[in-house]
Amino acid sequence: MANLHPVPAEFAARARIDKAGYEKLYAESVSDPEGFWGRIGKRLDWIKPYTRVKDVSFDISDLHIRWYEDGVLNVSANCLDRHLATRGEKTAIIWEGDDPDDSRHISYRELHAEVCRAANLLTHLGIGKGDRVAIYLPMIPEAAVAMLACTRIGAVHTIVFGGFSPDSLASRIADSQCKLVITADEGVRGGKRVALKANVDAALERPNTNSVETVLVVRRTGGAVDMQVPRDRWWHALMEGQSEQHDPVPCEAEHPLFILYTSGSTGAPKGVLHTTGGYLVHASYTHECVFDLREDDVYWCTADVGWVTGHSYLVYGPLANGATTVMFEGVPNYPDSSRFWQVVDKHKVTIFYTAPTAIRALMREGEDPVTRTSRASIRLLGSVGEPINPEAWEWYYRVVGESRCPIVDTWWQTETGGILITPLPGATDLKPGSASLPFFGIKPAIVDANGNLLDGATEGNLILTDSWPGQMRTVYGDHQRFIDTYFRTYPGNYFTGDGVRRDEDGYYWITGRVDDVINVSGHRLGTAEVESALVAHVSVAEAAVVGCAHDIKGQGIYAYVTLKVGVEQSEALRKELIAWVRKEIGPIATPDYLQWAPGLPKTRSGKIMRRILRKIAENAPDQLGDTSTLADPSVVRNLVDERMIRG
Ligand code: WTA
Repeated sequence: MANLHPVPAEFAARARIDKAGYEKLYAESVSDPEGFWGRIGKRLDWIKPYTRVKDVSFDISDLHIRWYEDGVLNVSANCLDRHLATRGEKTAIIWEGDDPDDSRHISYRELHAEVCRAANLLTHLGIGKGDRVAIYLPMIPEAAVAMLACTRIGAVHTIVFGGFSPDSLASRIADSQCKLVITADEGVRGGKRVALKANVDAALERPNTNSVETVLVVRRTGGAVDMQVPRDRWWHALMEGQSEQHDPVPCEAEHPLFILYTSGSTGAPKGVLHTTGGYLVHASYTHECVFDLREDDVYWCTADVGWVTGHSYLVYGPLANGATTVMFEGVPNYPDSSRFWQVVDKHKVTIFYTAPTAIRALMREGEDPVTRTSRASIRLLGSVGEPINPEAWEWYYRVVGESRCPIVDTWWQTETGGILITPLPGATDLKPGSASLPFFGIKPAIVDANGNLLDGATEGNLILTDSWPGQMRTVYGDHQRFIDTYFRTYPGNYFTGDGVRRDEDGYYWITGRVDDVINVSGHRLGTAEVESALVAHVSVAEAAVVGCAHDIKGQGIYAYVTLKVGVEQSEALRKELIAWVRKEIGPIATPDYLQWAPGLPKTRSGKIMRRILRKIAENAPDQLGDTSTLADPSVVRNLVDERMIRG
């Protein structure tokens, strides 16, 4: 039986939503979604109010998802303009630099002025409604300014994480045909510089990137960059002459807001498309309820804006709610592993939201880096990105939160736009390791491999039987792929790709991906992506990649590589291939293990049997299961022997 942590009395007493409130609202939200979301949608400022709330079909012959369809609004006006009268001088963004001596407070009024200038600048560069803009920036305020400026003119941003390689950047630019790239000379993380502009230069030499007319370069470090005239322009030089007045462009609720690429089980990363109205309703409403947001909170989400968490819970949710949001440029262990807690004390952070991988890494450093700070300001903790193991949960709860702060373990995905399964701090008793109960309007269900619905306490695959406003609308440029990926496995339902257990109290326990997606430090990677990077190397004939358990990262990357005939196995080549993947995709994709495979286990029809490769990677050769369909059983024996030697 899991250790139960009841709602603290103090939280229950002043809860936005208490236990009875949750039950009542949840029941209403699923029995009358139109009424419920129709009411919640009013939290935003609409230029033209909606009259229709929900128009959804999950039927694959007529798949469509529309929310607030006839409403018109502007995201940046909702995040900025409407707060000016009451919160103009309130801090919107606290920026904390990589260097602990570097920080800035930006008020709503100042942010509004910057965003207006940037919107005018984008317009001046010929960017208009519907045009795509790639943002490849470090965690500096200009990232939020660029995002909001795009939304102000109805341009569609696609943020590419600064840790991605030129190739990864190029493929995203090519797929979405961006007209503009916004980058910086260099990024700084943990005292090290990242050559962002040089990466953009390299990316734009790749095929299908001719759509890019302009590269806007923010000066972050002053490091040397090669400015190509007339393509490359300095952000600060062009911003200088821009007016601080700008009328936000009206956008239909279903106008595209952003594209964010994420890994799936097959092929290249998909461009997940989110739209304007439903996304903002969902991001802002979940942010307020899940984090029990109050006017004087200082809220810190440690995610990078390059990931969906950075979109929904660093920028859009908090700013739409008029909150103070902390943006951190650095890393948890620089200058030392006390940094998170020093930043908490410095800015009096009240709500802290991070990923299990960071918790596990800090846990390894012991309690001292935590306990030598105060953390008295914190009242609520959050977790996102992967299952949090109960040991890490208890450490986070006891050491970081001094057993007084609830932890909201929030389950969601790039595709879902916002949180779907989560505790509410004033309403939900916590079980370490469980994301607990569905948020309002969310209808999870559990099915077996054949699609049979499973009742009660059970385990299987997690599906969602109805839509919610923040749901992705399509895969950019490939609606068929959207249908095939999410709606074909269990027709009429959205398939999450996650496995899940439901206990006797109805609590959900996410068990991890059941498809070929691996979750490395909370970052998604498709095994197919890593494999195609490997086979792109001249020496490699074939590769198979699986996830394996990893103490800090949650999952690590285990690669099996078959070399071309005549190529010799060597330690040098092993290192070269690992470095190759790192360069092709980015550091997060660096394989943790690379095992030579003279052959790969395949069925007689040629399908690689990953189940077997996973077991070999786990060093569990006694659990290979049924191997009778193998074309050549000796292949497996060789791999097992080789694995045993390595230990
Ligand atoms: C996993 C990140 C367990 C899950 C917001 C999901 C989680 C994938 C949790 C999405 C959680 C995310 N508990 N697993 N609280 N949060 N996941 O698209 O496997 O980067 O499908 O979105 O992360 O990752 P993504």
